[in-house]
Amino acid sequence: MSSNTFGKKFCFTTFGESHGRAIGCVVDGVPSGLEIDEAFIQSELDRRRPGQNAFATARKEGDKVEILSGVFEGKSTGTPIAMVIFNENQKSGDYENVKNLFRPGHADFTYFYKYGLRDYRGGGRSSARETAARVAAGAIAKLMLNALHVKVQSGICAIGGIEARSYDFDRVNASEIYALDANVEAAQKEAILEAKNAHDSIGGVALVHVLGMPKGLGEPLYYKLDAILCEAMMGINGVKGVEIGEGFQASRLKGSENNDAIDSNGFKTNKSGGILGGISNGDTLTCKVYFKPTPSIFVAQETIDTEGKELTCKLKGRHDPCIAVRGSVVAE
Ligand SMILES: Cc1cc2nc3c(=O)[nH]c(=O)nc-3n(C[C@H](O)[C@H](O)[C@H](O)COP(=O)(O)O)c2cc1C
Repeated sequence: MSSNTFGKKFCFTTFGESHGRAIGCVVDGVPSGLEIDEAFIQSELDRRRPGQNAFATARKEGDKVEILSGVFEGKSTGTPIAMVIFNENQKSGDYENVKNLFRPGHADFTYFYKYGLRDYRGGGRSSARETAARVAAGAIAKLMLNALHVKVQSGICAIGGIEARSYDFDRVNASEIYALDANVEAAQKEAILEAKNAHDSIGGVALVHVLGMPKGLGEPLYYKLDAILCEAMMGINGVKGVEIGEGFQASRLKGSENNDAIDSNGFKTNKSGGILGGISNGDTLTCKVYFKPTPSIFVAQETIDTEGKELTCKLKGRHDPCIAVRGSVVAE
């Protein structure tokens, strides 16, 4: 089964590996006549791009996107839009010493047993380098949504258990860690640097909001809006949990606490996260995306090699100390 394509009416297929020649995507289902703002697509990639500050990996990738097809005189033609991003900063040598062993927490072990070979250079297809292609496809989706006055935004609401108490999406792009709450940003940054200085990594949570949702989107039952949203989010590298609205907390509440009362102006609260019965209710769609700590860390760890021999894994190279930060842009 192909697992490199996502979506039905609007769908995209990504290709490429972290240490291959390029990564990219083919986006299908875009109507003709949509203005394709290349500068906007690039600006979205720039938000995800590594090597920009101390809170992300030092790998420096230009992530310059090139549109190969489906656009004529700045407008979509209704045919597949192919985009490519050439890889620039591969250092396969960084992975020489882990060539035959499995990094704990990464996909090395399972990819080896599923595919019978090991592309050890940066994780190959399991590397989150692939997520740049998703961001490019997502930028096209955003251009379509803009035309419908639907806005998607994201930010970091928690790092290692240090939680935002308020959400200000307007400040996110000015923050090096896309923090939603200025009052906890310093503590969240400190937690990332502390983990990094200890050669370790740390988990975090991104919050995604969709404003201007029309009522009635989503197909019950198997393609409930919440179900496909979870499928999309859980498909992102390192995502281990997704909450819609009140999420897991709803299981601790009474019905009287969790239900959103309705008056003639609409819903008075938004515990549902904008979805009821798998269908959008017109309120803001709210989704929390839980990222695990980066698996590649620089402390010695127990592992085995492809022959089953026990070894110590001592990694070199450049890795994100907290994948949630750049991951929030991917989720958005
Ligand atoms: C934006 C982003 C950046 C990432 N950067 C790294 C990294 O530098 N090093 C690493 O080991 N994993 C990184 N990951 C996570 C791995 O790709 C992921 O943990 C791995 O593919 C195993 O998949 P799983 O965690 O979903 O089981 C990153 C994930 C995202 C979303």
